Amino acid sequence: MWRELLPIGRHPASGGYRRYAWTGADAECRAWFKEQAEGRGLTYEVDRNGNQWAWLGDPAAGDAVVTGSHLDSVPDGGAFDGPLGVVSSFAALDELRARQVTFTRPLALVNFGDEEGARFGLACVGSRLTAGQLTVEQAHRLTDGDGVSLPQAVAAAGYDPDRIGADPERLARIGAFVELHVEQGRALDLSGDRVGIASAIWPHGRWRFDFRGEANHAGTTRLVDRRDPMLSYAETVLAARREARLAGAVATFGKITVEPNGVNAIPSLVRGWLDSRAADQASLDLVVNGVEKAAREYAAAHGVDLDVVRESFTPVVEFDHALRDELSRILGKDKEAELKVPVLGTGAGHDAGILSGSIPTAMLFVRNPTGVSHSPAEFAAEDDCVAGVLALADVLEGLACR
Ligand code: GLV
Ligand code: MN
Ligand code: MN
Repeated sequence: MWRELLPIGRHPASGGYRRYAWTGADAECRAWFKEQAEGRGLTYEVDRNGNQWAWLGDPAAGDAVVTGSHLDSVPDGGAFDGPLGVVSSFAALDELRARQVTFTRPLALVNFGDEEGARFGLACVGSRLTAGQLTVEQAHRLTDGDGVSLPQAVAAAGYDPDRIGADPERLARIGAFVELHVEQGRALDLSGDRVGIASAIWPHGRWRFDFRGEANHAGTTRLVDRRDPMLSYAETVLAARREARLAGAVATFGKITVEPNGVNAIPSLVRGWLDSRAADQASLDLVVNGVEKAAREYAAAHGVDLDVVRESFTPVVEFDHALRDELSRILGKDKEAELKVPVLGTGAGHDAGILSGSIPTAMLFVRNPTGVSHSPAEFAAEDDCVAGVLALADVLEGLACR
């Protein structure tokens, strides 16, 4: 399975993945998922929001156990963020069939669409729509960098955009969702464990900063006559770093567009996106308010106008304690007390975090020796991935085969 997925959407120059929602690479990933589902005799369906499902047992029976993740990527992403969870779900099912277990609950494998938000700017669109955390009206307003709207992209990919919207009936049929994911830090590497259980996701969001100045000639415009938005943007990047450090949080300007984007022109517009995350809401507020206040001061000093728009926000997620404890019990059963599977928090967002507002969710993390993620250097060793599959199989057996 891994070898089949590896070439899809891989950029030959960067070696990174460009699997953006509703593009050709996404379609190839989706075709792969369908093939895996049908090859295993599972009932395949695409829900109203374009998420793919593969069912073992009756989808209508209720109290289903669901596992899976996503197949899309950030720009030049790694191979593991998302696909490891999807591949491991199929592999765990194969393992359970080899164990000849008897399922007492329906099991579904899922590929959530547009998790990374690389194309339309908002992460977890598939799960947000399903959970009613993104309205149809909001979804219709999403556009990509070329001005293509989300409904247009959905239609171009051959799906019906009129179907998108909250799907409470579907969620009501799910008793538990477990997402396996490559770790995006080094906690497991440092603790020496192959697999961990998630405790919480930091609150996080994305803010768009539009600095508007005046385009003018780079050679003939005196410095004192300039209204250069690049200066206030640059100072704001430094302020973000300072505020994050002071609050023990993180803040990143990782995406920027410049107009008119000419070497010899002072920009008229610099648009930068702030991604900020913190362990608690108060710290996150401190960072974002501090950055915005500083940005307004810098903008005023340069005669630049500033608009700040919050494009997305996900509050702190505490994963379901009962489900988390059950995973600990299942995975710790063969271990000495001091060797229990570690429980760790993360600053990364996930579909499991979105769904946790509606259904009990949990996550398993697989060791990443460098902690690098959202980069072609993202990695997990094969034996750790196999340990992840076996852990997921144990969890699914414990939950769905009682
Ligand atoms: C998704 O991976 C995110 O944390 O931004
Ligand atoms: Mn990611
Ligand atoms: Mn992910």
